[in-house]
Amino acid sequence: MKSSVKFDREASAQEAGRQAEFIEKDKVLVRALTEKLGRRPTACTVTFGCQMNAKDSEKIAGILRDVGYELTDSEEADFVIYNTCTVRDNADQRVFGRLGRISHFKKKNPDMKIALCGCMMQEAQNVEKIRTSYRYVDLVFGTHNLFRFPEYLCGVLEGDGRIFEIWDSTDRIVEALPSERKYTYKSGVNIMFGCDNFCTYCIVPYVRGRERSREPKEILREVEALAADGVTEVMLLGQNVNSYGKDLSEPCSFARLIEEVAKVPGIRRVRFMTPHPKDFSDELIRTIRDYPNIARHVHLPLQSGNSGTLKRMNRHYTKEQYIALAQKIRREIPDVSITADIIVGFPGETKLEAMDTVDVVRTLCLDNAYTFIYSKRQGTPAASMPDPVSEEEKKETFDLVLSAVQECARERSQALTGRVFEGLVEEVNEQDEHYVTARLSNNMLVHVPGDPSMIGKYYPVRLIECRGFYFFGEIVSGSEENSATDQ
Ligand code: SAH
Ligand code: SF4
Ligand code: F3S
Repeated sequence: MKSSVKFDREASAQEAGRQAEFIEKDKVLVRALTEKLGRRPTACTVTFGCQMNAKDSEKIAGILRDVGYELTDSEEADFVIYNTCTVRDNADQRVFGRLGRISHFKKKNPDMKIALCGCMMQEAQNVEKIRTSYRYVDLVFGTHNLFRFPEYLCGVLEGDGRIFEIWDSTDRIVEALPSERKYTYKSGVNIMFGCDNFCTYCIVPYVRGRERSREPKEILREVEALAADGVTEVMLLGQNVNSYGKDLSEPCSFARLIEEVAKVPGIRRVRFMTPHPKDFSDELIRTIRDYPNIARHVHLPLQSGNSGTLKRMNRHYTKEQYIALAQKIRREIPDVSITADIIVGFPGETKLEAMDTVDVVRTLCLDNAYTFIYSKRQGTPAASMPDPVSEEEKKETFDLVLSAVQECARERSQALTGRVFEGLVEEVNEQDEHYVTARLSNNMLVHVPGDPSMIGKYYPVRLIECRGFYFFGEIVSGSEENSATDQ
């Protein structure tokens, strides 16, 4: 593993230039491959994990497209790359399963190249397993050196043998690499990388490194360019967006940044993921309240409702503080939805203690929550904490938490029946092509009769029939509208 590689701004700009040169070399190599195959080679990116990984995959796909590959969803492609996640063990297992299955594609197609990147590759045991047991993998790199992908691709295409390059950290942010957007009308925007919180169960700080914020002007430039390209919704991405800007030479709060983003002409919706409850400022609550184009949705990870467990998780808030914060957000921002992440079965948490989690869900009547069973991550402090509670008991507790979450989600949704909200049509309904799916500012999905021409446009949508946490509805007027809605 290479140790920390230090870069200043000038070196970062030079690096972007260097990679641009490799992109030109890659183009020549892909042209040669096209001639050899007698067709354009295809490339497939497969993404696991969070929005941050999805954004990284767009950068990888952008480079692959730029150098001449035809992008495809099929893993029977000439270049396949898995962008991995290691937040829970099942994410790891899924990658190894998929990797096993595509080995026979490579037997049929000797020109096929297989690459792995992302968070799992920052863990030495996984890299070792691939090195020795998955010998058909051509390229492995980690989260810190993704910007060198054009260079690695060049090595792979030139047939330099297997390339394994993992850095254990970086302080570099390389701007201006190409990116392939998955959606025309919405996009994620990285505002910071890494995490310094070290929640005791979590692997992310070890695989994503220390917090590094992008300069506000780089972020705004990207948002303006997206808006000029027809994007109307942006999601600001970071592991703890409330820490944004503390490390900049001219510090800038997240509240100020989001305000500037909300002012960019053409941006009709701003979302963000993920804030940490420990430092959710009043300034941020006011900013959301005052800018109607900042989404009426706060994803506020709870993890546990028990103050003792929260302390052992190193979360820096108590049950009471979380409840008070969520109530303040609901009071200040009408129609806001609050969703959470919850972990059941943290080492040593008893069933009785976990009832505090159920209590928080019910007291606030949370709009929804992702609920996970604790997964032991090697190298984290929680991995060596005593864990006497049986898996069976954890599963029972999980079911209790889940049913509380589902009941509350239904109750909160049902209360909106009959109201009209602005919906952004995102896609044709998978089950019925005569329906499209619109997302409301509060993140709720509504299925309405429609056609593909509506994708990417905003309509006033009436919520008619509640189906748990989503709705069937109708468009109030036939044409795209800007106003005449509740929000
Ligand atoms: N930075 C974000 C999200 C991190 S990962 C945050 O602070 O909330 C997304 C979610 O995965 C976490 O919120 C947590 O609920 C869950 N998670 C993280 N590590 C986990 C583990 N070891 N076992 C089970 N769930 C975990
Ligand atoms: Fe993990 Fe905690 Fe950082 Fe979120 S804030 S990424 S849960 S360490
Ligand atoms: Fe997974 Fe890495 Fe995101 S571990 S959740 S892909 S930061």
